[in-house]
Amino acid sequence: MGAFNLETCARSNILALEPYRCARDDYKDDGTNILLDANENAYGPSLTAAAVSTSSTNKSSGPDIDFLGLHRYPDPHQRELKQLLCNLRNTHYHTDKNITPDNLFVGVGSDEAIDGLMRCFCVPGRDKILVCPPTYGMYSVSAQVNDVGLVKVPLLPAPTFELNVAKIKEALSNEPNIKLVYLCSPGNPTGAPLAKGDIQQILEHPTWNGVVIVDEAYVDFSPENASLAEWVTEWPNLAVMQTSSKGFGMAGIRLGSVFTSESIARLLNSMKAPYNIPSPTSALAIYAFSPDGLAVMQANREKIVAQRERLIRGLPKIKGVGRLRGGVESNFLLYELLNKDGQPDNTVALAVYERLAENRGVVVRFRGKEHGCFGCLRITVGTEAEVTRFLESLENTLAEVNDHDVSVPNDEEKKEVAASAVVS
Ligand SMILES: Cc1ncc(COP(=O)(O)O)c(C=O)c1O
Repeated sequence: MGAFNLETCARSNILALEPYRCARDDYKDDGTNILLDANENAYGPSLTAAAVSTSSTNKSSGPDIDFLGLHRYPDPHQRELKQLLCNLRNTHYHTDKNITPDNLFVGVGSDEAIDGLMRCFCVPGRDKILVCPPTYGMYSVSAQVNDVGLVKVPLLPAPTFELNVAKIKEALSNEPNIKLVYLCSPGNPTGAPLAKGDIQQILEHPTWNGVVIVDEAYVDFSPENASLAEWVTEWPNLAVMQTSSKGFGMAGIRLGSVFTSESIARLLNSMKAPYNIPSPTSALAIYAFSPDGLAVMQANREKIVAQRERLIRGLPKIKGVGRLRGGVESNFLLYELLNKDGQPDNTVALAVYERLAENRGVVVRFRGKEHGCFGCLRITVGTEAEVTRFLESLENTLAEVNDHDVSVPNDEEKKEVAASAVVS
């Protein structure tokens, strides 16, 4: 036996990590469950029926995946894909200037971008990032992986969940080692957009030497021109992250992007693994960003917005459903659940979460442990049939839990942790 000891050999911050868990570990996609937990696009990818047809007559209209070229490494630069992303985001709503492929980094989902930015700017064991809870869990996971400290400045209370600009500026003045501020707009799990003026105040901080990152994962469900991507031409310290996983319904291809200054983009592109974007991924994304793909995306978006409105009309009619706690600019909604006394209640929310999944095959997310989300479930907007089943299931489950005084599970605390410990 040699001297190897994993406990002393591996980095202590890595040893402390818990393996990634998601609600799918407990409630599988077996074709009968409806999955309203991960904010995926219920209406599917931005591909036309002809694009995915296996019939040879339709082949020319689909994504250009060169299967017999798969023995070759993919394009390390992805300029065609980047140009399409620029075309999409050069709205000239926030500036007259144009972003070009030199303003872009593309990665394996925005999760690669979150990590890449941290590795680019934060010295492990010394530097910190600032996050504004409730927010996307991956920022803190990446911070732990990179041994980077976490400063939390919670958002102002629901339902607006605005930035606490004064407190953020104070933290940036007092903590010299904060390098990055991760903002999420519209927020996850809040669904609320951040005010452009608030972001500008942070960008203009007179003494802080760091970068503001705006995660726009859900921006395609927001009103037109919401994206600040082109604004990076005006601010050397701004990075805007986007993903093809949500509005474009392409979570399976793992493509995320960072729009930023040419100088920061150069750093990110120098750091990355040379062939990080698989060629099938870029071929599918190029199709999704083509006129045909964009037309599918817009049509799916309209369907999701219609179902989102249906949920907003239907949920308040159900006994035991409380207030909408966030905004309405994403493909999910954050709602309070109430106990018999009409008060928001985490025990009720957790019991409903579990019963929906276990008895009715409807998987949503319990968010009651997140800052400012007491008693809340986050519900991804589904298809019309899914929304119908969800509304019926929720009404019946709430009645079981509240009217019939169903006891909550014994190992409640354990389940609560499990329900909260997932990242998406
Ligand atoms: C706010 C936010 N950012 C980023 C991501 C991850 O996106 P990707 O699939 O591109 O890694 C998610 C996924 O849920 C998210 O909610």
